[in-house]
Amino acid sequence: MRRRHFLAITAGASVGAVASRGPAWATGAPVTLTASPTTAPLVGGEYPETDVWAYNLSVPGPVIRAKQGDELQVSFENGLSEPSTIHWHGLRVPVEQDGVPYFSQGPVAPGESHLYTLPLEDAGTFWYHPHVNSSEQVGRGLSGVLIVEEPPAVAARLGADREIVWAIDDWRLGEAAQIEPFGNRHDASHGGRFGNFVTVNGRQELNEPVRAGERIRLRLVNLANAQFFSLRFQPLDPWLVALDGHPIEPVKLGDGGVWLGPGQRADLVVDIDLEPGAYVEVLDTAYGEERARAIMGWKVSEAEPLRHGAQPAPAALPANPLPLPDWTTAEKHHLVFEGGAMGGMTQAMMDGRMLDMRALVEAGRFWAINGSVPDDIKATPPLLDLKLGKSHIVTLENRTRWVHPIHLHGHSFWVSDPRLPDGSPKVVRDTVLMAPEEITEIAFVADNPGRWMMHCHVLEHQGSGMMGTVEVG
Ligand code: C2O
Ligand code: CU
Repeated sequence: MRRRHFLAITAGASVGAVASRGPAWATGAPVTLTASPTTAPLVGGEYPETDVWAYNLSVPGPVIRAKQGDELQVSFENGLSEPSTIHWHGLRVPVEQDGVPYFSQGPVAPGESHLYTLPLEDAGTFWYHPHVNSSEQVGRGLSGVLIVEEPPAVAARLGADREIVWAIDDWRLGEAAQIEPFGNRHDASHGGRFGNFVTVNGRQELNEPVRAGERIRLRLVNLANAQFFSLRFQPLDPWLVALDGHPIEPVKLGDGGVWLGPGQRADLVVDIDLEPGAYVEVLDTAYGEERARAIMGWKVSEAEPLRHGAQPAPAALPANPLPLPDWTTAEKHHLVFEGGAMGGMTQAMMDGRMLDMRALVEAGRFWAINGSVPDDIKATPPLLDLKLGKSHIVTLENRTRWVHPIHLHGHSFWVSDPRLPDGSPKVVRDTVLMAPEEITEIAFVADNPGRWMMHCHVLEHQGSGMMGTVEVG
């Protein structure tokens, strides 16, 4: 079976097994990401290679590593036959570097290039993807992981011997391992485009080698258009140490899994407390025990254990330099999410006109936020006007029958997370899961001026109405 290696790019010095396998860029030199059609041996075995769209001929794209406090330059070259951009999901960068057409930059035409200059204030696990025709461009393979490293002495608090990155994705493949067409209305009005083939780092690999007694920092990223994952590592009991790149007080996963909605990330610290020769099946149970399946497996080598006995808990990483909102004086806002199959939406405003559900469906729009559906996003007024420098609490009300991962650009926010053990304090995220009928509150200081996207990260929902903007100024 042929296999394409998971490439890694290093910008500046880097640590970790993944980084050491790829070409190295000198510190400060721009990284180049070229998007183009190519093929990838996704399924392997007897199957033909899959036609994909990829950054630097690799799905997922190369892992970009850079250092907190540095400025990362990325030159994007568009080798596709349609316009594109790159958005740096979770990075708090100036709006003109955010990769959103019209609010940040013009779309990058085929054959053109664009230079991004990204200040890296926050350390953590981030990712990058296009922000044009997202369902199809991301769904055909355009996405990759971006790691901003803490200084080595800070990262050492976790006590990890090495690092592993799992970029988890799914694909909707036909019999000949080719990607099925996009633009399905059933996907858009239901749970989004689910794949039938899950890959980790672009392949199905159920025998990743690990060593008894070692401690691994595992960075998880969900690149899928619509699919959720909830990973369990029994009999191991990893520590959860960061969500969407932002550190939390380390907490054991226990019996639960680590949840990853589309766009979300989690960092774990895993102690391989097993005998040489053991095997760990990593199960995804997001859709119930009956549908549990292995997405990865760890094969513990026959080598002598690296160490014996239980290890101390990892220390928390320091918080990123995010201003703390003032909950008592914060301005309050409310966003209502409606629509979708089995929802009660009857009408919504599109482009200044009230349309009934039939007209919306004809226009391929199934969702609305505060009764508004963007047609031409640059002509649609912002959902919220937020005063620069002030604290804001935004209540997100899900009046649909579907789960939505809601993502805000340019800011990270505090939110309580019902999936963490009871009593856990609020955590910082950039993408929050909103269960059906759930009401969620996010709080943040609007410290980054500009017009920012806020949308569902189920990309077929984003493309069919569940998207708007927030003005900070
Ligand atoms: Cu990861 Cu607006 O997206
Ligand atoms: Cu959604």
